[in-house]
Amino acid sequence: MLPSRRPAPRKRIVSDIARWVATSGRILSADGTVPLYDGAAGEQGGKTGTVVVEWGKWSKESNMPERPLVLVVGANRGIGLGVTQAYLGHGWDVIATARAPDRAEALQRLAGAEPGHVEIRALDMSDGRGVDAFAASVADRTFDAVLINAGVAGPAHRSANSATPEEIGALMFVNAIAPIRLGRLLLKNIKADSGVLGFTSSIMGSVALNAGGHELYRASKAALNSLSRGLFAEMRGRNLTLLTLHPGWVRTDMGGSGAPVGVEESARGMVDVMIRSAGGRGHAFLDYQGKELAW
Ligand SMILES: NC(=O)c1ccc[n+]([C@@H]2O[C@H](COP(=O)([O-])OP(=O)(O)OC[C@H]3O[C@@H](n4cnc5c(N)ncnc54)[C@H](OP(=O)(O)O)[C@@H]3O)[C@@H](O)[C@H]2O)c1
Repeated sequence: MLPSRRPAPRKRIVSDIARWVATSGRILSADGTVPLYDGAAGEQGGKTGTVVVEWGKWSKESNMPERPLVLVVGANRGIGLGVTQAYLGHGWDVIATARAPDRAEALQRLAGAEPGHVEIRALDMSDGRGVDAFAASVADRTFDAVLINAGVAGPAHRSANSATPEEIGALMFVNAIAPIRLGRLLLKNIKADSGVLGFTSSIMGSVALNAGGHELYRASKAALNSLSRGLFAEMRGRNLTLLTLHPGWVRTDMGGSGAPVGVEESARGMVDVMIRSAGGRGHAFLDYQGKELAW
């Protein structure tokens, strides 16, 4: 029931249903007219619609659209794992990094459930040379989106008055320096015009909205926000979109069990914001619901 000839590429996606059909390969006729039926996305059952495909180099072997590719850094648990799952739900392929892939059981399970669509790679964001080597190792890949998500809360005392230079160095390096270093190295690998580079920051990085507390973590995310704005100035020639994102206060190891937002809701929102922003070519500080935040 696959198309008998190669459909015309680069048309417009007309609806979310069309996007789902396109990315899940359920295109049943070459003119793009499809019965939208059954299974995985139940609410589509029984309807008939027309699908036209926007992204889509068509692979000669499978006669299916090539799936978009996202890199998610820090994908073995928490928000990064949720983001990986959400992108897979949209029909994307994912390169997902973990500090220790052999211990990333949840990510391995996800990869096992989506054979051929998740590539797990090792990356420790506290290791500058490792960051450089990782970027070199993906130099031949082109990403539709990159989300640099890994982050740490910093020392438990949370206070500038108790902090050591080593603690501050580690916190700043992982939360601010390494993300920008990696993002800068990957700029040439992100698809010109439609590509999106995202950093998982936090509303706690907003200077304007700073209500006090967690001052070291806030400072590390404020540094990330400032550095991301500086990076944007280097990106203009490629027409990329840069997003500095707040995932909400989320029930993860970092956010704690009392946080109001679940991982799935946050991740779904982040991915929707990333996908919707493609082609926008600006720099924005947005939360997982797409709301603009004060810097
Ligand atoms: N949860 C919230 O409420 C909240 C709110 C605002 C912003 N954020 C931000 O959202 C991001 C994800 O947070 P989360 O809540 O999902 O936290 P989490 O559950 O603690 O997960 C943190 C992730 O970052 C990875 N990571 C930490 N240090 C790393 C390093 N040196 N190299 C590579 N990966 C490293 C962890 O890998 P390991 O398993 O190897 O440690 C893990 O995958 C962070 O940037 C955080 O600051 C979270």
